[in-house]
Amino acid sequence: MKIAIITGASSGLGEQYLRHIVRLYPDVKAVWAIARRQERLQALAEECGEGRVVPFPLDLISYDSYDALKQRLEAERPEVAILINNAGYGTLGNFDEMELLSQARMVDLNNRALTAVTSAVLPYMSKGSFIINVCSIAAFAPNPRMTVYCSSKAYVYSFSKSLRFELKNRGINVLVVCPGPMDTEFLPVAGIGKGSSHTFDTLPRCNPVTVAERSLKRAAAGKGKYTPRFFYKLYHLLSNLLPHALVMHMSKT
Ligand SMILES: NC(=O)c1ccc[n+]([C@@H]2O[C@H](COP(=O)([O-])OP(=O)(O)OC[C@H]3O[C@@H](n4cnc5c(N)ncnc54)[C@H](OP(=O)(O)O)[C@@H]3O)[C@@H](O)[C@H]2O)c1
Repeated sequence: MKIAIITGASSGLGEQYLRHIVRLYPDVKAVWAIARRQERLQALAEECGEGRVVPFPLDLISYDSYDALKQRLEAERPEVAILINNAGYGTLGNFDEMELLSQARMVDLNNRALTAVTSAVLPYMSKGSFIINVCSIAAFAPNPRMTVYCSSKAYVYSFSKSLRFELKNRGINVLVVCPGPMDTEFLPVAGIGKGSSHTFDTLPRCNPVTVAERSLKRAAAGKGKYTPRFFYKLYHLLSNLLPHALVMHMSKT
């Protein structure tokens, strides 16, 4: 049976991926929706059709979650057509003022979980399937006041490009998507509100509905990268051309 797996499916961009896959991929018979908030996943399953959306409550910071995922894959042996590594969070503030646990857990979720989930799922993927790794414009250059977050997204960026190269001969595509700020729960979770960051107050917003729809289309078409909005494509170009010591004056959050 063809399935899709989405991490962080209970809100924001992940929820939009879920809705688009249910609508646009009738051959995907089930979407395994992973996140911690079971009630949110259950509500989405009821709305999108029981059976089509399969709530899979996991805390991806815990090592046990990888075993649970592996065991379910082994038991059901599905054909995974789409894997979306989307779960992630950030925090705003100087590194030396942040709690160690929140910073270490960010690396655990944004990097360790993404790596572990990919490793667990890959044996069930074959030619024509694809992976979308949700990254950020934060990967393009360091962002002071979001030091661990931008570093974790630089990992996601590099991991995705290298994995894409490795998986080409298996016919599996990997797309890395790099959105700018989106009005999702990400911002309050990060401690970003009006007035807390001039950069976040002024940057143009990306729409999670469009980001999900366009990145799915591009991944299916074999593309490797998607950065929404001209503004952020230009920022990427500048961050490649200019010294980062200079770019950091713009990218400081
Ligand atoms: N919003 C932005 O400005 C922005 C910009 C660029 C990139 N991004 C990236 O986009 C991705 C999605 O974020 P979003 O904007 O959609 O924010 P969001 O609404 O806060 O979504 C984050 C998702 O991750 C899940 N999650 C958090 N901790 C988890 C854990 N320990 N185990 C399993 N799932 C966990 C959350 O569900 P539960 O709480 O139910 O577990 C939620 O479904 C992230 O990777 C983020 O870095 C966001």
